[in-house]
Amino acid sequence: MSGGSLVFVIFSILFLEAVVAIYPFEGIFPQIHPQAFIHPEAVIIGRVRIGALSSVWPGVVIRGDVNDIEIGEKTNIQDGCVLHVTRGTPDRPSGSSLTLGNHVTIGHQVTLHACRLLDDVMVGIGAIVLDRVVINKGAMVGAGALVSPGKQIPERELWLGSPAKKVRDRTDDEIRASATIMEHYTVLAGIHRDSMTPP
Ligand SMILES: CC(C)(COP(=O)(O)OP(=O)(O)OC[C@H]1O[C@@H](n2cnc3c(N)ncnc32)[C@H](O)[C@@H]1OP(=O)(O)O)[C@@H](O)C(=O)NCCC(=O)NCCS
Repeated sequence: MSGGSLVFVIFSILFLEAVVAIYPFEGIFPQIHPQAFIHPEAVIIGRVRIGALSSVWPGVVIRGDVNDIEIGEKTNIQDGCVLHVTRGTPDRPSGSSLTLGNHVTIGHQVTLHACRLLDDVMVGIGAIVLDRVVINKGAMVGAGALVSPGKQIPERELWLGSPAKKVRDRTDDEIRASATIMEHYTVLAGIHRDSMTPP
């Protein structure tokens, strides 16, 4: 049995009462840390790795078919998000993968496509982040923003609008508030997990 299959089996046993929608793609299973929380109404496919204490909420789709998706630790992906990647082409043979660092908060109904978000980033509700965008540490994209392909958002900047532009730097208080939200989601995930575990 491959490492990926083993993780899948262990994960299925942990969630005996709540079957989790985790599927292989071309023989590759998602690799999910046993301490991550995946709500049973989320769908995770293929070349996806999720680190410890991260959480994936109802209605999320993470489809790692034509490229890799890597999600770090203590990162929350809230309800209804869609995460996908871009396949290789003659122009760009390796395509574009999707990477989320540690302590990242992704608000409800966000679409992330083949982009890279570093640690401590926050993406507001309903935002869309397109291919090859890089969002550096501690930066934020506000609710409803559209970040167009290839944009590089420097550390700690706040970007809003469609197309998104820098509006200002984030304050220390705002960075701390984002960290509080991230920690809250880590705790909340544990409560949801316990609520689903048979007594
Ligand atoms: C951007 C945000 C952080 C507020 O920043 P702020 O600087 O405190 O903004 P303010 O509320 O003082 O508003 C300043 C201006 O920006 C506008 N604004 C606020 N949020 C905006 C957004 N997401 N997109 C566009 N404009 C926005 C306000 O309307 C206001 O405009 P005005 O000066 O013409 O009246 C907040 O609106 C946001 O997007 N939060 C995301 C929350 C979220 O999605 N959380 C995830 C779930 S936990």
